[in-house]
Amino acid sequence: MLINMTDQDVQDIIDQIKTVRTVNELQELKSKYLGKQGALTVAMKKIREVSPDKRKDLGRKLNLYKQRIEEAVEDQRNALIEEERERREAAHRYDVTMPGARREVGALHIISQVQEEVQEIFLGMGFELAVGPEMETSYYNFEALNTPEWHPSRDMHDTFYLSNGKLLRTHTSTVQIRVMEKRKPPLAIFSPGRCYRKDTPDATHLPMFYQVEVLHVDKNVSVAHLKGTLEILAKRLFGQDREIRLRPSYFPFTEPSFEVFVSCGICHSTGCRSCGGTGWLEILGAGMVHPNVFRSVGYDPDEWSGFALGMGLERVIMLKYDLEDIRELMRNDRRFIKEFRGVVL
Ligand code: PHE
Repeated sequence: MLINMTDQDVQDIIDQIKTVRTVNELQELKSKYLGKQGALTVAMKKIREVSPDKRKDLGRKLNLYKQRIEEAVEDQRNALIEEERERREAAHRYDVTMPGARREVGALHIISQVQEEVQEIFLGMGFELAVGPEMETSYYNFEALNTPEWHPSRDMHDTFYLSNGKLLRTHTSTVQIRVMEKRKPPLAIFSPGRCYRKDTPDATHLPMFYQVEVLHVDKNVSVAHLKGTLEILAKRLFGQDREIRLRPSYFPFTEPSFEVFVSCGICHSTGCRSCGGTGWLEILGAGMVHPNVFRSVGYDPDEWSGFALGMGLERVIMLKYDLEDIRELMRNDRRFIKEFRGVVL
């Protein structure tokens, strides 16, 4: 090509430039023709070799070619940049008629809601909030609660034993001991928290569940105080029309012990399917603190008396909201969780 380059050659080069798709390729082409070793540059250097009379025309011609090629490169560069800009804009183009991203408002899980509800009830009656660890020693979970190693009731409280010799508490009654060890009566505390048992999940059991423990110790505390407290609790939780019933039961750490029932809200204790025909639904265990429990924390059982109760939160929720399967509470199905958005609080 070189110095005898023709208009057609230039046109071919320009056509080639127009087919280039990227700025990099364009740059390559540009140096191929216009760079230091580029064809046109080399051609222009060779003008010297041409006879003087032809130099002027040739020089003018080559300069013109150079200009046209430069222009073609610039035009193509601008076209590519514009194309890229349009592509980007198209990618970011948004539809103003599209519904906006809804910001969802979170909600407390129903267990947390009911836990807070129970908390308000006990705070309202003058009980203080107390907390204890979920990882416990056997002493706090059993022995201090008048439940020695050989005690048959331990069978119902099988739990997860940890490699450090501790266990996961099977009930919140551990907090009774922890509080009494540190303080002198009178005291009135409640303590919500997680508990664990070696249970296989089914419609009424979970290996991890929530309880609320309540303990009141003072001079001359009687079953009447327990009943009064239970009545307020049941009416606040389930409704003013609900009644409670105590039935003798057994716990190693209370004497006497009771199973506490609340009247069925559907049949008002005449008996229906929901309450299994009995008219009553069991909600918790309770009793008067056993003298041995007082002894284990250094209280004189002749001087002090007290009541304690332990209530399963999931059980309360199931009764309150006619929940048939306790596992729903742990399944983390958002449809279920949303059902209870702001139900209590
Ligand atoms: N800790 C008992 C349980 O989990 C419940 C209970 C608490 C009973 C306090 C009496 C007094 O079964």
